[in-house]
Amino acid sequence: MERTFVAIKPDAVQRGLIGEILQRFEKKGFKILGLKFVLLDRETAEKHYAEHVGKPFYEKLVKFITSGPIVVMVIKGKNAVEVSRRMMGATDPSKADNGTIRADYAQIMERNIIHGSDSAESAEREINIHFKESELVEDWHRNIRGWILE
Ligand code: RTP
Ligand code: MG
Repeated sequence: MERTFVAIKPDAVQRGLIGEILQRFEKKGFKILGLKFVLLDRETAEKHYAEHVGKPFYEKLVKFITSGPIVVMVIKGKNAVEVSRRMMGATDPSKADNGTIRADYAQIMERNIIHGSDSAESAEREINIHFKESELVEDWHRNIRGWILE
């Protein structure tokens, strides 16, 4: 089982899509380990997007992610990093496969409503930026687990 970090971005929060997006991961059967509604400060946003420093879209990206509250979460499941990224679809929603979150709810890359870690290493790095270990609840099981996993 693998953990990953997901953020519901300010555009999705403003558009009232928190519930629908959360529901996709719940219905998939992923286990939620952590969930928070937060307004990122610039320092945290810079840490989160450190890999993009120097890119032409960096400043806009940091401004956007700090422009309003977001929902941050940690979820766990089989191949959670790759599977959740596939559920999100391509970075550019106009190129995302039908049925993915970005294809269903978004049009442009700068308003692509959701973030997901791109590797297990990024996931652990991002989880540590946004959550204290004491904020994560590992010790619980969904009662439906046996109907999803062997
Ligand atoms: P994310 O980190 O948000 O899950 O998205 P991603 O891995 O699919 O894409 P990434 O390359 O990490 O880019 C992070 C976010 O920056 C914005 N972006 N804008 N204008 C541009 O060329 C451009 N490229 C990326 C997107 O909002 C993307 O989600
Ligand atoms: Mg990324």
